[in-house]
Amino acid sequence: MKKLTANELRKLYIDFFVSKGHKQIRGASLIPENDPTVLFTTAGMHPLVPYILGAEHPEGKRLTDYQKCIRTGDIDSVGDPHHLTFFEMLGNWSLGDYFKQEAISYSYEFLTKVLEIDPSRLSVTVFRGDDTVPRDEVAAERWKALGIPEERIFYKGREDNWWGPAGETGPCGPDSEMFIDTGRPACGPDCQPGCSCGKYFEIWNDVFMGYKKEADGTYHEMERKCVDTGMGIERTVAILQGKKSVYETEVFAPIISGIEELSGIKYGEDEDKDVSVRIIADHIRTSVFILGDQKGVAPSNVGQGYILRRLIRRAIRHARKLNIPQGFMSKLAKIVLSLYAEPYPELAENKDFIFTELEKEEEKFYDTLIKGEREFDKMLPNLMKGNARVISGRTAFKLYDTYGFPIELTEELAKENGFTVDKKGFEEAFKKHQELSRSGAEQQFKGGLADHSELTTALHTATHLLHAALRKVLGTHVGQKGSNITAERLRFDFTHPEAMTKEQIKEVEDLVNEQIKRDLPVTVKTMTLDQARSEGAIAFFDSKYGELVTVYTIGDFSKEVCGGPHVTHTGDMGHFKILKEQSSSAGVRRIKAVLEK
Ligand code: ALA
Repeated sequence: MKKLTANELRKLYIDFFVSKGHKQIRGASLIPENDPTVLFTTAGMHPLVPYILGAEHPEGKRLTDYQKCIRTGDIDSVGDPHHLTFFEMLGNWSLGDYFKQEAISYSYEFLTKVLEIDPSRLSVTVFRGDDTVPRDEVAAERWKALGIPEERIFYKGREDNWWGPAGETGPCGPDSEMFIDTGRPACGPDCQPGCSCGKYFEIWNDVFMGYKKEADGTYHEMERKCVDTGMGIERTVAILQGKKSVYETEVFAPIISGIEELSGIKYGEDEDKDVSVRIIADHIRTSVFILGDQKGVAPSNVGQGYILRRLIRRAIRHARKLNIPQGFMSKLAKIVLSLYAEPYPELAENKDFIFTELEKEEEKFYDTLIKGEREFDKMLPNLMKGNARVISGRTAFKLYDTYGFPIELTEELAKENGFTVDKKGFEEAFKKHQELSRSGAEQQFKGGLADHSELTTALHTATHLLHAALRKVLGTHVGQKGSNITAERLRFDFTHPEAMTKEQIKEVEDLVNEQIKRDLPVTVKTMTLDQARSEGAIAFFDSKYGELVTVYTIGDFSKEVCGGPHVTHTGDMGHFKILKEQSSSAGVRRIKAVLEK
């Protein structure tokens, strides 16, 4: 087995698939473009959903990349030696080209020839089949033909061997996972790949995307079958290096050294302290990637901004537990930046934003945290008097409202002291005060909105018209900072230093409606990014030299690099109306707008 670093693995993987006829594409932003049902990009295939569903990708049918991903599902498990909120995923895709046979052969070749993993240490799982989809004999036969014996092929059900969709709807299918035997003893007679005891380590997943899940929960077989695979970089280098934990690899070592230096403690000597070290290390890394994304977001109380705020505030609280003095965020962020300068150049480009926002959030939270913790400590003796070890919703809300404690932080603090929190009571108090049933973030977590319906498509096109109109009315300093579309409205964040005037808002609205009335054709063309730029297309991301992109042109009014989807002409879009123009973060404004029929 080759002992590779993350940088080496990234390169070997991409080179291997390029040698097999794949084009390397640039990984996408962490903020999903076309999927309002989740807050972050969760897998390499996520940005490719439109292409898996049938759209033609400008780079062809065989693609490979490395993708930034965030999964917040088990954010509370971070602190143990294995969980991460941010990770990198390597992937290769066949868009209606090769299917199971080749995908599995490529996987096997890469694992045994390139990574030099002893084949006798490999086991795989394949889909067992159920009422609707048959057992995956093709995958199993292929593994056998390559030399994996029957006893190391495990058949499992939907809970283990079915992947996707990435959000609420979209492509999905049976998968085949690859595991490495670490050589540790089995935890019992039932121990097999997928067991969490640590004997088997999942290294890669080949998904055979043959189905599409619809908004009503039904599955349809897709005519054109695709392959999607995913290999987590951090996990894989940990196993290749023979490390028990991702936190012991070079990916985290410099960040952990930074924390050791700031706190004076030594990692690996006290499990309680180690938990805090890992939480700080993971959360600062994720925060840097959210802030430094090509569509970077600032901390806030909704959506991605709220997750970011939770990460930063939780890191600060654990830093305090280790007696790390204020101002540590930027110091650790610098280490993260230097670790990822090469694969993610956007971090350096956004470094001022990263440092300013981290410092601001740290400053804002420190005083209130100290006061809040004091308040909590003051409350404790009283709480201890009662039999019920429950913190009332009203108290939790007070900590939230007065001290800016995210509810999850109160829950953590409570747990450390043997209490639970009356979450329902908290939500009621929240509702009463905010006249909001749920926070925007939670609403989005529950998802359930919008696939690529007619309305979201029209809103997507409206976003381009709005972007172009803003640049005409306010100036060309206006650039997209974020976009989010649900079935009801569009939301657009853009750089502009001050609030728009009523007149400017009206002017932008009129300009957009004028273009809708003109019934402009929407056309799409594939070209290199340089060509797109020279033709005056707005592109808010960089890409490799010569990489092909799709450019959407709306009559003579807008030209923008984008993955679509869009309407074919503007006439039937409805009446464009701006509902709100407000501040999003320093130097960034936010518009919410609708199309009225
Ligand atoms: N999309 C698949 C995964 O995330 C490869 O595991």
